[in-house]
Amino acid sequence: MSTVHDVIASRRTIQRFRPGTVPDEVLERALLAAQHAPNHKLTWPWRFVLPGPVTRELLFRVGLRIKSARKGPSAELEASVRRNMLVPDRLVVVVQRVDAEPARAEEDYAACACAVQNLMLSLHADGFGSKWGTGGTLRDPEAREALGLHADESAIAFVWIGLPEIVPTPPPRPVDRVTHLP
Ligand SMILES: Cc1cc2nc3c(=O)[nH]c(=O)nc-3n(C[C@H](O)[C@H](O)[C@H](O)COP(=O)(O)O)c2cc1C
Repeated sequence: MSTVHDVIASRRTIQRFRPGTVPDEVLERALLAAQHAPNHKLTWPWRFVLPGPVTRELLFRVGLRIKSARKGPSAELEASVRRNMLVPDRLVVVVQRVDAEPARAEEDYAACACAVQNLMLSLHADGFGSKWGTGGTLRDPEAREALGLHADESAIAFVWIGLPEIVPTPPPRPVDRVTHLP
């Protein structure tokens, strides 16, 4: 993988991970890359929370509770939530401090999204897979408490990280959304 262009074009959202270790230095490099994201007004709106096994188990329980309430409990559902939430070797939760001023909060979310992309591209350049996940667990009060979120903070992304089991084929992508003006 040679240029930044190759890295950008070949990164995929990984839905299935296999067991295996992501070295600390790979994760540290990715977290550093995340913090090089552009950020208007230099508000540094992000924080990266790294849940350990106890917290991940709790997040799994919350995810399972939310999905079971929606779909009805089943062994298949539990296995699927377990696979999604406990198999990836690492989890980074990206947290935004939400400014009271909506325009600032919007720009800060944009900065946090840039940070997530930097994080995922760095991991991919080092040969590891990632997935940006969202959903009810990020907003759940029990999960928020376990993650140590402050009242003015929003968890905007689970970034699941590990060894890809399957690298999906790229989704069809319109790449002509460009308007040239005189
Ligand atoms: C804000 C945001 C939230 C996302 N949430 C999810 C999610 O909850 N589950 C999921 O499978 N993918 C999620 N994705 C990943 C997209 O589904 C994925 O980027 C898209 O399918 C394109 O695939 P690619 O990343 O391989 O190019 C999210 C992406 C973004 C930017």
